[in-house]
Amino acid sequence: MANVIVIGAQWGDEGKGKITDLLSRSADVVVRYQGGNNAGHTVVVGDRTFKLHLIPSGILYPKTECIIASGTVIDPQVLLEEVDRLRTLGISTDNLFIAETAHVTMPYHRVLDQASEEQRAEHKIGTTGRGIGPTYADKSERVGIRIIDLMDEKRLAKKLRWAIEQKNIVLQKLYNLEPLDAEAIIEEYRGYADRLRPHVVDASLKIDDAIRERRNILFEGAQGTLLDLDHGTYPYVTSSNPVAGGACIGAGVGPTCIDRVIGVAKAYTTRVGEGPFPTELHDEIGAQIGDRGAEFGTTTGRKRRCGWFDGVIGRYAVRINGLDCLAVTKLDVLDDLDEIKVCTAYELDGKVVRDFPSDARAFGRAIPIYETLPGWKQSTSECKTVEELPQAAKEYLKFLADLTGTPIAIISLGASRGQTIIVEDPIHGPKRGLLRA
Ligand code: GDP
Ligand code: IMO
Ligand code: MG
Repeated sequence: MANVIVIGAQWGDEGKGKITDLLSRSADVVVRYQGGNNAGHTVVVGDRTFKLHLIPSGILYPKTECIIASGTVIDPQVLLEEVDRLRTLGISTDNLFIAETAHVTMPYHRVLDQASEEQRAEHKIGTTGRGIGPTYADKSERVGIRIIDLMDEKRLAKKLRWAIEQKNIVLQKLYNLEPLDAEAIIEEYRGYADRLRPHVVDASLKIDDAIRERRNILFEGAQGTLLDLDHGTYPYVTSSNPVAGGACIGAGVGPTCIDRVIGVAKAYTTRVGEGPFPTELHDEIGAQIGDRGAEFGTTTGRKRRCGWFDGVIGRYAVRINGLDCLAVTKLDVLDDLDEIKVCTAYELDGKVVRDFPSDARAFGRAIPIYETLPGWKQSTSECKTVEELPQAAKEYLKFLADLTGTPIAIISLGASRGQTIIVEDPIHGPKRGLLRA
């Protein structure tokens, strides 16, 4: 058995959904530990595409238990829409469980998220507008409403009346917006409570049962390392901890129960929203990668900014998350390129820097130092083994493994389950990788 954390090693959208779905075939339990419906995880099975925002990507396996743990923020309307959509597609959600201690995203969180972004004008973060920051802010301020409150009609009404009174002052006085109708919101959320009730559990206890029964648990991260509230490109980050350490806090388990940490990284880099991005491409090649990679946000439909693979970020992700191995995705997107650049270090204020600068302003001034590798100019999407990959593609992957000092366990060459080379099974295999540095 192995308990494995899957995290995003860049700025999100690395293909965590695909990799989690793939690994879920060996998992008994899949746990989402942070974030909310700012996430958009795409899973392609045959000719069907599933876009998941809150529900863990293990849901497509009927026997796998899926838990939305305490560290997440849950918008019940979105969660129930997701449940309904899956049911119409014939996917059961009977094995879906939600933590009673997770916080609930309310309509005022969404309104405040959008209003504060508008007020920030050119300093905006470029959030998804889903109310994530304000929900976590209320959690930290200890005025949040949790799933457990939602389950108690009287407590919910009391807490909501007070909260909406407070929020209406802010909405009217600070943002010049219409006040919200507390009674209508209480009524709306009472309806959600009735539908969510059968799924509500003590998630930490449920996960602990699974650990004791020595079942395989997969912890699915949302967002990515550089969007981490503490370790990302602050303030252009999300409001939770997507890094591996966040799995223990968010799920309510101790670090000693984690066996392995897998980092998912694209063979290049993308970012949605504002903030510095040293290897960003503003030219034809960036547009070509965006087109071939269909780089549009799963949640907001926004165009993702594209750039070369950044080894400084790669090494940083290895350090911050304690990565055992990498899953490199979307290698096929680079198939047509004559040559491929990889950032190995930065030039910062006249000095060569190999470590990620913790000062975001310094990071904004970083100029990438590139190594240029030859492209392979042939399709990789049908390759089933490392040996079948073109020599230049193998060398590219070896270069990334060397640069990050981390073995590559999985190579993804397309959105489907079958378009994957498992160099070494990170759940069952020994702790070594063929594409080792
Ligand atoms: P996540 O948020 O990390 O789960 O990633 P997203 O689902 O937001 O974005 C990744 C996108 O790339 C999705 O549309 C996937 O279907 C797609 N994808 C995943 N792996 C591959 C791959 O290896 N090649 C290609 N071409 N597409 C992939
Ligand atoms: P997945 O799980 C990519 C980005 C937003 C914005 C910043 C803050 O699909 O990888 P927020 O709404 O969280 O307050 O926005 O974080 N962001 C993501 N970018 N993938 C995601 O999730 C993201 N979730 C949030 O674009 O820059
Ligand atoms: Mg995504």
